[in-house]
Formats: sequence, structure tokens, C-alpha cells
Amino acid sequence: MRIKNLLTLNLFCFFVLVGTLRAQNKYNAIHSGVVLFDQHNKEVNAHGACIVKEGSKYYLFGEYKSDTANVFVGFSCYSSTDLMNWEFERIVLPVQHDGLLGPNRVGERVKVMKCPTTGEFVMYMHTDNKGYKDPNIGYATCKTINGNYKFQGALLHEGNPIRKWDMGTFQDTDGKGYLLIHHGVIYELSSDYKSATRMVDSNKKGGEAPAIFKSKGVYYWLSSNLTGWERNDNMYMTATSLEGPWTFRGLFAPKGTLTWNSQSTFVLPIVGKKDTTFMYMGDRWSHPRQGSTATYVWQPFTIEGDSISLPDFKQSWKINPSTGKGAIVSLEGQIIENTDKVIHFSGDWQHSSATDESHDSRSDIKGASFSLTFTGTQIGLYSSARPDGGYARVVIRDRKGRIVISSAIDMYCKYPETSLKFLSPKLRKGSYTLTVTVLGESWWWVDKHNGKTGSTGDFISINKVVVR
Ligand code: GAL
Repeated sequence: MRIKNLLTLNLFCFFVLVGTLRAQNKYNAIHSGVVLFDQHNKEVNAHGACIVKEGSKYYLFGEYKSDTANVFVGFSCYSSTDLMNWEFERIVLPVQHDGLLGPNRVGERVKVMKCPTTGEFVMYMHTDNKGYKDPNIGYATCKTINGNYKFQGALLHEGNPIRKWDMGTFQDTDGKGYLLIHHGVIYELSSDYKSATRMVDSNKKGGEAPAIFKSKGVYYWLSSNLTGWERNDNMYMTATSLEGPWTFRGLFAPKGTLTWNSQSTFVLPIVGKKDTTFMYMGDRWSHPRQGSTATYVWQPFTIEGDSISLPDFKQSWKINPSTGKGAIVSLEGQIIENTDKVIHFSGDWQHSSATDESHDSRSDIKGASFSLTFTGTQIGLYSSARPDGGYARVVIRDRKGRIVISSAIDMYCKYPETSLKFLSPKLRKGSYTLTVTVLGESWWWVDKHNGKTGSTGDFISINKVVVR
């Protein structure tokens, strides 16, 4: 009996160890604009997200999107110790039988806060019908951070539901919780976080996707313009009190970069012993393939006085959670240019002879592909993503032809960028084949004025590949 127990314990420890190693080894940086893979090599599907630190772990909550319809499928939870490698925990709130989050409804912008007076975790979200004509703020509760949340219905203010859409949350240093609403409205929450007690501010500035953070006594309020899933130049306001007055401060990313092709959702303070880094979290939406191809733009804010900025796009960087210090990570490896003979093109491709960084081979013919065989542990694909970019299918096969990774990626960028578009998780050292195929589809959306937005083509591109 004892031996059996010991064996079980050893086996348990072995699997925990293997699981930990496997999860820790996938990435060595925070990568923006590429699909991330979890411990099962599945896309990290958590959009309009927030991150909450509990104990030594970070928990990422987001919209678990589908690739087939713009409806609520559930809110997901992932955990990480380093903000680079994410493990899927569970769907913490699934579709309900009926009501605000029942079938064929919309559920967005999930935010979670731990209530200091009750110790409970309270989740907030925007609920709506498919046409976005029945907005409500809903809430759910759970005793544990990553457990099954119980949907409680509409959050009330003076007994009435809050019939608004884009929302966020902010927890101040004194433990008070706030609900943020589009166009600058702030509600203070009751001490149990289960109702809104007071409208703190209602100045009609700012736009959608609100997020607030506080640094050295200054509150920063981020929001985006009204372009639906399409990206735009996001802006910010500052104040020394949540009650205002709020001062409009303009853009925080260079004009025209459309917030480095993203829309704000949350700011995570990473408070270390030496420094605090505020991580901007934005969404690079990708309707209709939101579940598999929409990516995250997570960038450290530069703060000078009371001005914030994201002056450049940090493709890969990391943060030491214990010191709070960030550092750039360079993706070194063997570089293979698009013109290299080891890359085999099939179908029609245009090879550009541009001498600048954006040179590439591109195609919009459905089924056209390129492939190469490589030996190593990781492969990254750089492409020139433009306003006419489309979806590609990326498949990595091992020597026996077994599929190790299969993922769709999006090469649409309204603000053109030549950047990393795909990065495999770290693989067991070996020989693999990468194949990238034109899907002949692209990003689109109907904006709030019923105009079609999105890509003007289906192009996919290869600029270069890095093998590590
Ligand atoms: C955005 C909003 C998203 C989503 C989208 C739908 O403006 O920020 O959360 O609702 O519109 O068009």
C-alpha cells in the first residue's frame, strides 16, 4: 500500500514537473501581434482581456471567441508566472441557458477584481444582443479566481440596470472598485462590488474600450475611437482625482500607427521591488476569425512626468515580475530571406525587389503556398502586413509528416508593418517542415455607420524566416 502511494506521489511529481517544464519552455519573451500557444499548443483565446495577479500567478481573463459567429461562447481563464507562457485553466463562465448571456448573445470586455471586503472575485462584462441594441453591464462571482463563476445578472445602479456597452474596471490603491463606461463615465462600486453606488464622473470625453491606471498619484484614462473592431489612434486623459477635472492629452502611440494596430482593453501594473512597469494591453481584432487569429498587443508604457507613450513597437520583450524591470529580447537565429533557394513556392507569387525592409514575396491566390524544411527548436515568420492582407494557414510537420502545429494567421494591418507574424512555440529539437498557404479570405467588419471596413485583398507575404 505504502509503495503504491509512493509510486503515485512520484508519478504525480513527475507529471507536475514535466507539465511545468513544458509550459515554461514555450516562449522566452512577450510577443505582440502573433498567435500565442498554450500548454496544449492551442491558440490562447482571451480577447478584450484583463490580467489579475493572485499569489505568485497572473490570471488572464478574456472573451473566448469563435471563428464562425460574433456571439458569446464563454469567458476563458489562463494562468502564467512570467506573462510569457500561458496555461489554459478553463472556461470560467460559459453560455447560460437564457438571459443576458444566453444563446446567440454578445458577451465582451470581461474584467475581474478581487473584492477586499468579501474576498470574492467579481467579474464584469458587457452583454448585448447580436445587433448591439440591448446593452447591459452584467456581473458574476466566484470564491476562487479560476473557478466556475456564477452569473448574477445585471449590475444595478439605484435599482436600475446600466444600459451601456464598452466597459472596464479599475481598483484604486485604497481597495475601492470602479466601473468604467464608454465616453468617460465612472461609477463607484459598493463595498461588496455587487452594485454601483455613485456616478463619480460623467464627462462625455473619450470613446470606447476604457481603461484606467494610476501612477504616482496621477490617473490615466485610455480609450479608443468608434470604429467597431477596426483599429484606430487611441487617446488618453489625465487627472489627479477620479472625479476630475480630466485633461485631454491626445494620443499615446505615434499618430497614424493606429495604436500599433490595436485597441485598448486594460493596463496591468507589474509592481516589482525595483520598478513598476505598466503594460498596455490591446486587441488586434480579426473578424470573422477572432478565435484563432486575433492577437494581443502588449507593450510597456514609457512614462515621463505625467505623459505616457508607446514610442515604438516592441516586438519581443520581457519583464522580471520580482523586480518589475522590463528588457528587450532579440529573436536571434538563422535568417532565411524570401529569395533563398531553400524556400519552395507553389502557385503564383510576386517577388518584390524592394531594397528596404518591407521586401517580400506575396500572393493572394487561394491555395498558393511556400514551404521549407528546417532543423531547430523554433521558427518565426516575418511578413509585410498591409491593408490588403488576408488569412494564411501555417502548418508545421515533423519528419514523419505528423502535424505538430496548425494555425491560421492574419496578415492584415491597416497601418502597414513588416514584423513577426507567426512564431512557433519552442519545439523538441528536430527536423520539421513549415508550410504557409493562402486561404483566400480576409478580415472584414460592418462599422457603426453600416459601412464595410477591413481588408481590401487576400494577400499573404513572406519577408524572411528565423530558425532557432
Ligand atoms: C468596439 C468595441 C468592441 C466590440 C466592437 C463591435 O467598438 O470596443 O468591444 O463591441 O465594437 O463592433
